[in-house]
Amino acid sequence: MRIRSIPRFRGRKPRLATLALLALAAMLTAGPALVMPTGSGAINTGLSTPEWSEPELRDLNSSLSSRKMLVAHRGASAYAPEHTLESYRLALAQGADFVEQDLQVTRDGQLVCLHDLTLERTTNVEEIFPDRYHEDISEDQPKDAKPAKHWYVSDFTLEEIRRLDAGSWFDPKFRGARVPTWQEAIDLVRGHAGLYPETKGPEVYGKRGLDMEKLVLETLRNNRLDQPGADRKTPVIIQSFSAASLRRMRFEMKIRLPLVYLIGGDPRNDLLTESGMRNIRTFAEGIGPAKGLISRNPAIVDLAHKAGLTITPYTFRSSSTGQFPNVRAEMEHFLYSLGVDALFTDNPDQFPRR
Ligand code: G3P
Ligand code: CA
Repeated sequence: MRIRSIPRFRGRKPRLATLALLALAAMLTAGPALVMPTGSGAINTGLSTPEWSEPELRDLNSSLSSRKMLVAHRGASAYAPEHTLESYRLALAQGADFVEQDLQVTRDGQLVCLHDLTLERTTNVEEIFPDRYHEDISEDQPKDAKPAKHWYVSDFTLEEIRRLDAGSWFDPKFRGARVPTWQEAIDLVRGHAGLYPETKGPEVYGKRGLDMEKLVLETLRNNRLDQPGADRKTPVIIQSFSAASLRRMRFEMKIRLPLVYLIGGDPRNDLLTESGMRNIRTFAEGIGPAKGLISRNPAIVDLAHKAGLTITPYTFRSSSTGQFPNVRAEMEHFLYSLGVDALFTDNPDQFPRR
């Protein structure tokens, strides 16, 4: 029997009148950095008022809803710099069901939202702290990478990271965007969508004396979000490429929130088999495979479902749609022909609702 333990709920479409009011309010109050381009012209990124109907509210607690879920990958990262509050705001305005946060840990033990272990790709750290690098191969680089200068998050305090510009690399108009703490992301998203944090490099941080899983759980507890259904407007799903991290959270820390095991494009041969899936089901409620794995072997979707796992592939983006004419068509195919439950996309505004 198919087990669905991830809370399902309907996406929300802000009414036109609400958007018009928000746009007017933005024109009166917001600086230029708050207006961002989308496929349909400039819109205000202020938060839309959630408009849950009664049936939608009931669906929040239903494990049987077949509603497909939209996870905004690093926010609306096709349109705004990934993992900034600007990107998260836009994802909410575009109707995301969940907003993803990749987590890293600062030297002083604060969780921040950033994809890489290092700061140089998405901030101006090189300019602000020119001498604070290590010349090595970062552990999140491909194995054949050459040694290069890296500015590690875990070498900087939060106060130092707050001085960095995390927006200009994407577009000069985002100059001044900051690396958010996870708490800031929670404060922004809460009440409007779910949270979808990923423990990034937990083993790397462990070696540096920083316990990422403990910090994640503490933050969830402090926000009273550590139990399933604690806030029906803000479900939480935790994801990781590290099975050890997920197992630790499930068995040692007794986390009852849904866990999703991420699977890269070149996994072990025994992972995506019937027994592999059964094994994953012992510590997780879902899998998050690279979408190419499903393209090459669509039977994975049924295998996952038969093992009682949900399946949420990554990453759907307008800049890489393979054989499909556009990202909407690609997402349509995965959701409604192949039958995945949810997906990660950089383009939340293109998610095909039915
Ligand atoms: O977490 C899903 C997807 O984001 C995994 O890839 O590298 O973007 O974190 P990555
Ligand atoms: Ca991720």
